[in-house]
This record gives sequence, C-alpha cells and structure tokens, in this order.
Amino acid sequence: MTTVPSIVRPAATRVLITGASSGVGAAVARQLAAGVSQREHSQKLHLYLCGRQKDNLSSVSEECLRSAENSKLLEVVTAVGDVRWPEDVDRMWEEFGAPPVDVLVANAGINRPGPLDQVLPQDYEDVMDTNVKGVFLWLQKALPGMRSRQKGQIVVTNSVLGLKPKGGSSLYCASKYALDGLIGSLREEAREYGVKVGQVYPAGIATPWWDDPTRGGSRTESVATSKFLSADDVAAAILMLIHQAHGSDIDKIVLQPNSKM
Ligand SMILES: NC(=O)c1ccc[n+]([C@@H]2O[C@H](COP(=O)([O-])OP(=O)(O)OC[C@H]3O[C@@H](n4cnc5c(N)ncnc54)[C@H](OP(=O)(O)O)[C@@H]3O)[C@@H](O)[C@H]2O)c1
Repeated sequence: MTTVPSIVRPAATRVLITGASSGVGAAVARQLAAGVSQREHSQKLHLYLCGRQKDNLSSVSEECLRSAENSKLLEVVTAVGDVRWPEDVDRMWEEFGAPPVDVLVANAGINRPGPLDQVLPQDYEDVMDTNVKGVFLWLQKALPGMRSRQKGQIVVTNSVLGLKPKGGSSLYCASKYALDGLIGSLREEAREYGVKVGQVYPAGIATPWWDDPTRGGSRTESVATSKFLSADDVAAAILMLIHQAHGSDIDKIVLQPNSKM
C-alpha cells in the first residue's frame, strides 16, 4: 500500500519577527497576515513585531490588519527597541507577554561597508552587536519555551555574504559568517529537542537598506537595485521554512535574483 506523505502545515500561530518595521521583516509580516483567510483551521495568528522606528512598525501593523480578510483571526502586537541591548530585548519580550512563540524570524540586520582600514571600531561593534548578538539575545527568549514544548521553528536572515567573502564588506561578512556558525551549531543541538532551525541567504534585496548608510547603503555611492531580489521574494522563502511539512527540516535556502526579470 502506498503511504501518502503528510503535507499538513503546522499551525504556526505565534510568530515573532525582528526587523519588522522595514524591508524583508515587514514583507514577512504582511505575507503571513494576508494568509490568515486561507487558514483552514480557526486558530488565531498572533504576530509580534519589533524594530526601532515606532511609526514604521505601526504602519506595518495597520497594513497587516487591513490585508487579513478575517481580522478576527489576527492579532498584531508591536514593541520598539534595539536588538543590541539586552535590557531592550528583555523589555520587548515582557511587552509581548513572554508568549509561547511557534516561530522566531530573526531578521534585523545592518551593514557598515567600506575598506577594512577605513571602517571604525564603532562600526565593528554596531554590525556585530546587531547581526550576531541581536539574534543570540532573541534566541535566548524564544528557545526555552520551544524546548519545553518540543517544537518550534527558527528562521534567520543570513546573506550570500555569509557564504562567500566580498571586498569592501569585511565587517558584514564577518558577522554573517559568525551567524552561520551560531545557527549551524544551534541547528545540531535543537533538533534533539524537536526544534527546526533554518537560514535564508539572499543576494542583494531592493529595500530601504540601500538608501541609507546607517542601514546598509554605501556612504559614497548609490547602488542600482532594479535587478535585485524584492523583499517579497525573500519573504516567500522565509514562509517556505515556516510552512514546511512536518516531515521536512530545511537547512539553508540560497536566493539569487531571476536573471530573466
Ligand atoms: N538588503 C540587502 O541587500 C540584503 C541582502 C542580503 C541579506 N540581507 C539581510 O536581510 C535582513 C533585513 O534587511 P533589509 O534589507 O530588510 O533591511 P532594512 O529595510 O534596512 O530593514 C532592517 C530592519 O532591521 C531593523 N534593525 C536594524 N538594526 C536594528 C537594531 N539595532 N535594533 C532593532 N532593529 C534593528 C530595522 O529597524 P528600524 O528601521 O526600525 O531601525 C529594520 O526593521 C538583514 O539581516 C540583512 O542583513 C539584506
């Protein structure tokens, strides 16, 4: 007798997204919210969104609530803070009510491009603290509950520069390689207690990142982003991890733009 593989989607009802006020994180929130009406069960989706810019977070929250066809099945909670600071992460976690999150999308990140002899010690701290410590601090919030429930999904936004070095991006590459080691190790240990851990590695994405040197853009030149991935392209890959079948455990998704676009 043929066994039909289970493709029933796990009910990801509580999803916490860092860097949800812009770009990829906002697109993940919007796509999850837009999927609420397609949920075949009646469980409510709770989105916990954080970032530093309150107004942007509020706009994303409003867009999510507007796009959900059945808004009774969607709750959006926002918290403002900096992922670099443990006290901010503690406070945001408390503001969310220390929820039993099913999915953590650890996505907040920045770049400080430039030749190594020209970037500053402060740039080093900003990049490492945001891209590595910020993920670590949120993992420490989400993992204990996942471990005790023996289930959960972690999704981390890495970069192709976490797989292949590039001149002029040494701090960013160092942070994303460090993230790859952190998350790769976690993947090995978390599978022992039933938690899935995966990463997406996108090439360039057309987000506000490129417009602003405090996010990731160059201080000296503008970058043409027309042939880049869109935030929605990357969000769709993150949703593949979130909605993967019970029997699968995606490790890495590497994303390049479709050259025919
Ligand atoms: N853009 C690209 O070309 C590209 C390519 C590969 C990978 N990535 C990765 O994709 C992820 C998302 O980037 P994006 O392109 O969507 O950039 P983005 O539009 O600039 O969004 C970055 C998000 O991270 C948040 N964030 C940054 N620093 C933070 C901090 N210290 N504390 C709290 N939140 C902070 C921002 O919040 P606020 O705006 O509220 O401060 C914003 O919500 C990053 O991890 C990045 O490394 C980007």
